[in-house]
Amino acid sequence: MCSALGIAFDDLDATLDRPVEGAPARRLEELASRRIESRAPLAYLLNEAWLDGHRFYVDERVIVPRSHIAALLGDGLATWIESPASIGRILDLCTGSGCLAILAALAFPESRVDAADVSSKALAVAQINVDAYRLGDRLRLVESDLFAALGDQRFDLILSNPPYVDAEAMRRLPQEYRHEPGLALAGGVDGLDIVRRILDEAPDHLSARGLLVVEIGASRAGLEAAYPRLPFSWLATAAGDDEVFLLHRADLACSG
Ligand SMILES: C[S@@+](CC[C@H](N)C(=O)[O-])C[C@H]1O[C@@H](n2cnc3c(N)ncnc32)[C@H](O)[C@@H]1O
Repeated sequence: MCSALGIAFDDLDATLDRPVEGAPARRLEELASRRIESRAPLAYLLNEAWLDGHRFYVDERVIVPRSHIAALLGDGLATWIESPASIGRILDLCTGSGCLAILAALAFPESRVDAADVSSKALAVAQINVDAYRLGDRLRLVESDLFAALGDQRFDLILSNPPYVDAEAMRRLPQEYRHEPGLALAGGVDGLDIVRRILDEAPDHLSARGLLVVEIGASRAGLEAAYPRLPFSWLATAAGDDEVFLLHRADLACSG
């Protein structure tokens, strides 16, 4: 449903020539005014965001979903994972709205998924989305500072779109991004604080043939300089081939 117009999303094309008047027109004017005055992203005004064709409830407790990992999950990371059935356990670290955890659960229908976030407010939003997709029987939300609350569990696939905006970029953030939780964006001086922790701790939580897939924004050069021995594979996305890396569990032995 296109909530701004009260028209089913699939019916929008058929209504393109129809003049917008009356209550829907007033609703659009009101939305446009709020958008201009508050500079809040439209997703927050509508309480919905779309990622890889899937709708998610959002509000200002989570960032607006836009991770490039979503499109990679669309084909089940087919270049790297021969058989979806081989992926039994998945962890989505820094889950926010739960969008990537949900897309992973859909891409790997036989998997069980843990979705962790340090923010209880974000997890409340994720719960709304897990319920909407009726995935509660195999997708578990966990309040956790990265791996802290996960004990000694191991996963076949660990995904993460962590906070990775560096301090300089945080200072220059446009108004729209300032509506998003700072905790979801700020990645320390060079943007890599959380990424470094994930690389350090992931070996203890990946199964023997496990894969780690992490989005890092614009920090490829800094990351490769910091970990010259790690054989990163850079995955092609709509943003190019320097925003999402993949490592095998065995690769992480070369860390440092
Ligand atoms: C960039 S958002 C990603 C949200 C979601 N995965 C997505 O792609 O839209 C990063 C998330 O990491 C969470 N976060 C920040 N620090 C964390 C930590 N130390 N442990 C777990 N989650 C953390 C934030 O609360 C936020 O929800």
